[in-house]
Order: sequence, then structure tokens, then C-alpha cells
Amino acid sequence: MRDINEQWQQETWSKIQKKVIKSAARNIGSIPYTAHDGKFDNRGAENICWWTNGFWPGILWLVYAVSGEESLKARAEECEALMDRAFYELEGLNHDVGMMWHISSGVNYRLTGNPDSKRRNLYAANILAGRFNIKGNFIKAWDEWGGEDHRGWTIIDCMMNLPLLYWASEETKDPRYTHMAVAHADMAAADHIRPDGSVRHIAIHDDRNGGMIGERGGQGYDEGSVWSRGQAWAIYGFILSFIHTRKQEYLDTAKQCAQYFIAGVQSDWLPRCDFRSPGEPVIYDSTAGAIAACGLLEIAGCVPEYEAGLYRDAAVRVLKAMEQSFCNWDLEKDSILQMGTEQYHGEKGRHIPIIYGDYFFIEAIYKLTGQTFLFW
Ligand code: GLY
Repeated sequence: MRDINEQWQQETWSKIQKKVIKSAARNIGSIPYTAHDGKFDNRGAENICWWTNGFWPGILWLVYAVSGEESLKARAEECEALMDRAFYELEGLNHDVGMMWHISSGVNYRLTGNPDSKRRNLYAANILAGRFNIKGNFIKAWDEWGGEDHRGWTIIDCMMNLPLLYWASEETKDPRYTHMAVAHADMAAADHIRPDGSVRHIAIHDDRNGGMIGERGGQGYDEGSVWSRGQAWAIYGFILSFIHTRKQEYLDTAKQCAQYFIAGVQSDWLPRCDFRSPGEPVIYDSTAGAIAACGLLEIAGCVPEYEAGLYRDAAVRVLKAMEQSFCNWDLEKDSILQMGTEQYHGEKGRHIPIIYGDYFFIEAIYKLTGQTFLFW
């Protein structure tokens, strides 16, 4: 079993590397979000504050870290420079500055020591810190839009932004960033994780004292349902918080969320968009599988070997199932992982390639092949 898996991992990495190098050569100066007929768009450069803009440079850094292919580094640094405009268009940014900068500038700095990249990542950390509500002990996700006031809203996705704050504390030797990250993670464990291990996407708080006053179904089927990408953000987010703080509660929470995810996906290992939606229509979300796989592999690295197999095997099963059913390896087409879904409701954005699906799929295979440099 192990030998067959190792061969599959190596072959899959080799296909990833070839495909990313080809795509990068075709997409100079772009920051893609999705692909149409196998061709990347340029949504990121057109909307420079778009929350997914870190994932394409992140992909380039993942493949650069293994291959040393200099053209990928050059492409990633071009994206980073383009993204500087987002600092001037400040109002377009939200809590996702961690996803935007920590895997682009943050990784550049940590791999190459580039001082401009360090400054960019510190700007991003300060923007994220500026969203912390000191009375409520949470990081506000979004500002007001669509006539809706979001001052007390938190979303589970924010767990992925916390590594930026842990890094900023380490880098500046100022513990305040970590204090905020820990306060937010504690809030998320209490208010986003239900007793059965399933995850609430959106929690609404009283912004004067942090008390929880409501929830929303967000991108899942309904209030009380289980949006699988939210479940995956929790798995990976909590295990990352454990890795950065060694706080046992975060490992326990990551495991609890992982067990719910594994139970939800194990019929065929292809994640549906929501684990508590009606059986029909069948709506997949490959991005949930890729994110969860990264988290499961990190959990496997944090628990004793007798426990690790559960998480490692589940990650491999999800990745293999998706590789067989959802991946496109045609070198003339951009985007690898198909069948991502932005949100449960609405046909638009359903069963499409999404850049963070590729990012986390590649990161998971990178981990499986034995790479240990942690991007987050
Ligand atoms: N963070 C937004 C999403 O997962 O779609």
C-alpha cells in the first residue's frame, strides 16, 4: 500500500510541476482566479484586492521550493509587486490579507530573505491586527456591504489568516499579534464549532462584548447545515494554530472537525459542498477536499503514530479520488483541479476550477512527498 502510494505521490508531483511551469509561461503578468475552457482568467489583477490573490503566487512558490525553477520565482515576484496597489486601495481589503500575503510575500521573505517582502507581510499583519475588536475578542471578517452591517461578524475562514499574526509576533518579538490570534481562535472554538464537531460558517456577535447573537448559513446550504469548505478551513486553521502555539485545545478541535469531515466524505471520498444538504442535486466542492487534506496531513504529524494513520489515510484517499475524478493533466490547459464550488446556492460558480483548489491540492501533494517547509 505504502509503495503504491509513494509512486502515485511522486508521479502526481511530477505532473504538477510540468503543468505549473507551462501555465506560468502562458500567464505572465496575470493573477488568475478561475479558468474558462482551460484558460486562466486575470480576475486578480483586475481586482487587486480580491481575497484569492495570494494563491497563484503561492502555487509558484510551492513548485519553486521543490524545483528551483527560477522563472517561477520571477513570476511570483511580479504578482507580489502588482499586489502593492492593494495597499493603496485599502478599503477593498478585509480579513483575508493573511491568505493574500502570507503565502506570497511571507513565503518569499522566509525562503529568500527579501526585505521588501518582509515589509509587505508586516503591512498585511498590521491591517489584520487593525480589524481586532478588543471588547469582543474577535477579528471582524468584513466591512459593511450590500446595506448589511458586519461589525460583529466572524467567519470560520479567518482561521487561515491567523498564521500571519503568529509570524508577525515572531518576527517583531511583539506578542500582541499572537494575543489577538489566540483570542480569535478561542472565540472560533467556542462560537463556530458545534458540540458535534460540525462548523458554523458565520457567527454574529455583539460588538460591545463579543456575546454571540446569531449565525448565518453563509456559503453552505442553510443555517445549521455544514458547508464542507468551512469544515475544511476549521481543520487546517486549528491545526495551524496548534502548530504555532502548542495549545492542546486547538489540536483537539482540529481532530474533532477532521473526524466530522471524514465521516461526511467517506462514501466515495469526493466532498459534497454541504454535508447536511439534501441528497439531490449532488454538488461537489473539490476545494474542500484539497484544504482538508492539507489539514489532515498536518494533524497526522502532530499525533502519535498509532493515531496518525487515520488522518494520513483519509487525506490520501480524498486526494487520490479527486486526482482520478477531478484533475485535468492536459499541459495545454491551465488549472489542475476542476469541480470547485463557490457556494451552495446559485448555478454560477458551481463545478468550476478555482485557484485555491489548485493551491491546496498542490500543497497537499508537496507535503505527501516529504517537503516540510510550512507555507503558513
Ligand atoms: N473565504 C471564502 C471562501 O472560502 O469562499
